[in-house]
Amino acid sequence: MIISQEQILQLHQYIETPALIVDLQQLEKNIEAMQNLANENAVRLRPHIKTHKSVFISKLLLKHGAVGITVAKVGEAEVMAAAGISNIFIANQITHPLKLRRLRKLHETINISVGVDQIEQISLQKRYFNNASKPLRVLVEIDSGLNRCGVTVGDSLVKLVREISHAHELTLEGIFTHAGQVYGAQSKKEIQEIGDLEGTIMAEAYNLLKDQGIDLRVVSVGSTPTVAYSSKNPVVNEIRPGNYVFYDNIQYVLRSCSEEQWALAVLATVISQPEQDRLVIDAGSKALNLDRGAHATQLIKGYGKPLNIDGEIIRVSEEHGVIKLKSGQSIRLGSPVIIIPNHACAVANLYSHYHLIDSSGKIKQIPVDARGKSQ
Ligand SMILES: Cc1ncc(COP(=O)(O)O)c(C=O)c1O
Repeated sequence: MIISQEQILQLHQYIETPALIVDLQQLEKNIEAMQNLANENAVRLRPHIKTHKSVFISKLLLKHGAVGITVAKVGEAEVMAAAGISNIFIANQITHPLKLRRLRKLHETINISVGVDQIEQISLQKRYFNNASKPLRVLVEIDSGLNRCGVTVGDSLVKLVREISHAHELTLEGIFTHAGQVYGAQSKKEIQEIGDLEGTIMAEAYNLLKDQGIDLRVVSVGSTPTVAYSSKNPVVNEIRPGNYVFYDNIQYVLRSCSEEQWALAVLATVISQPEQDRLVIDAGSKALNLDRGAHATQLIKGYGKPLNIDGEIIRVSEEHGVIKLKSGQSIRLGSPVIIIPNHACAVANLYSHYHLIDSSGKIKQIPVDARGKSQ
């Protein structure tokens, strides 16, 4: 963070807690650094906005050179489209009939694309995009080791792509992957290996399809820890990191960011100190989330990292966080506690507003526009 802890502690008197604090200068620095990485590797940047769900930050990303945005949900796409963002990739498979109708509506108004990894999804899309004004752009998801969605590189990929090329309702835009298994990496070396593999598997997919006479416009990879490596593969031409705008304690523990790169914090208030070593704050699971990362749980201690208090958040209930103090110091009730969330993306979704702090220390509230848009 560029803004100092002392500055945040000073501002506490003007901010009701628990609250989300964003260091605007650091946010812009993180955005610039990732844009530079994309430019240096000659790849397009299409950041995932599920991290912040904010129109303001999405527009900042576009202003700095992003070619469009990535979302996970139709609801997120609707919010961003309504705010004037017109180039959106839904990096997810849509199969619910009501969602397919909403997707069709978006498709008629903006430039949208969506993920596929099974032939059955193509049958659904053919049904819901019959007579559309233009073909729906689809990207085939490749499994680069996460074992979530995605096809493996081989016959099933070729079969799926052939099915798309036979459907006049669809057009094949490219392939995408997310090597999210990186969040279980134990070392920098392992992060690099996973990032390299993310690129290599995409190159295999690209070359396999090229041999079949199929050219891809987009080869898209992305996770915050891996993009520095996967973007170096010559076939990769798009990256989709999301978390890097804020970073968090998970990224820090993974060694995917430094303390200076944190741009988001939760500000909380001490409400009680029932014992010398037990401090209670007004931020519990509804302010800090229980998420310690899908894979890295053993490396994360507590429910967020307090910065200005020597202790660990050992327990949360919905509205209370219990901090075990290391030195048994007496802390004035009403004092501020600054916490770096374990998982920024999961925490941002819990709030209606960010408190954006600029270089002069001025606070501006901006909405978490797509908060709760999980449909
Ligand atoms: C499909 C997809 N792409 C991109 C991302 C962005 O990854 P990260 O938040 O690690 O930057 C995610 C994150 O969950 C994802 O699921």
